[in-house]
Amino acid sequence: MERDETSPPLLPIISPDKRGDAENLEKERKPRDLTMNWLEHPIFLFGDVVKGFGRGSRQLGIPTANFPESVVKSLPKNFNTGIYFGLAQVPSYSAEVFSMVMSCGWNPFYKNEKLSAETHIIHTFPNEFYGVELRVLIAGYIRPEWNFKHVKHLIKAIKDDIAFAEKTICTKDMTKWKRMFFEN
Ligand SMILES: Cc1cc2nc3c(=O)[nH]c(=O)nc-3n(C[C@H](O)[C@H](O)[C@H](O)COP(=O)(O)O)c2cc1C
Repeated sequence: MERDETSPPLLPIISPDKRGDAENLEKERKPRDLTMNWLEHPIFLFGDVVKGFGRGSRQLGIPTANFPESVVKSLPKNFNTGIYFGLAQVPSYSAEVFSMVMSCGWNPFYKNEKLSAETHIIHTFPNEFYGVELRVLIAGYIRPEWNFKHVKHLIKAIKDDIAFAEKTICTKDMTKWKRMFFEN
């Protein structure tokens, strides 16, 4: 699906567990309801950050921390590729838990041949980091991956994802999840 600045905003939002269900699809064409994107069961992933292609920082100005293939392969069998939001922590940097957006998929814009899981942590780090542990909790779904005519449209979509994640995450009390997954 190719998008540009004339494309409609992130609609329809289709929860992974509801795709293909015509009745729900119709409901989800209605304006965005921030509650519908939360996953019933959040997914916790952890692993050491590996180098990606480096395009996140260089071309997009939006750095991403990439999980190794072993972590990508550990995703549930019924997991739908797409763009997600949730929480992230880099314990060697700080005990703080940040909001994050994450792309789990094939990066159609770059025509990747391997599935990747790339997290943009909504925080400004002083430098890039590799080989350190990253923990993420995938809490909700934003949209499928899209292809774009121009890199500026990809950047705009990611910025919209970040704004959406920030708005959505503060609608839920995450204290229990933070304690359960990030405190140790
Ligand atoms: C929130 C978010 C949304 C993304 N959406 C898309 C997308 O719709 N289509 C796409 O091809 N890539 C998408 N990406 C992936 C970026 O293209 C990828 O992170 C970037 O190329 C950096 O990859 P690299 O670290 O392997 O170089 C998204 C990434 C993030 C963090």
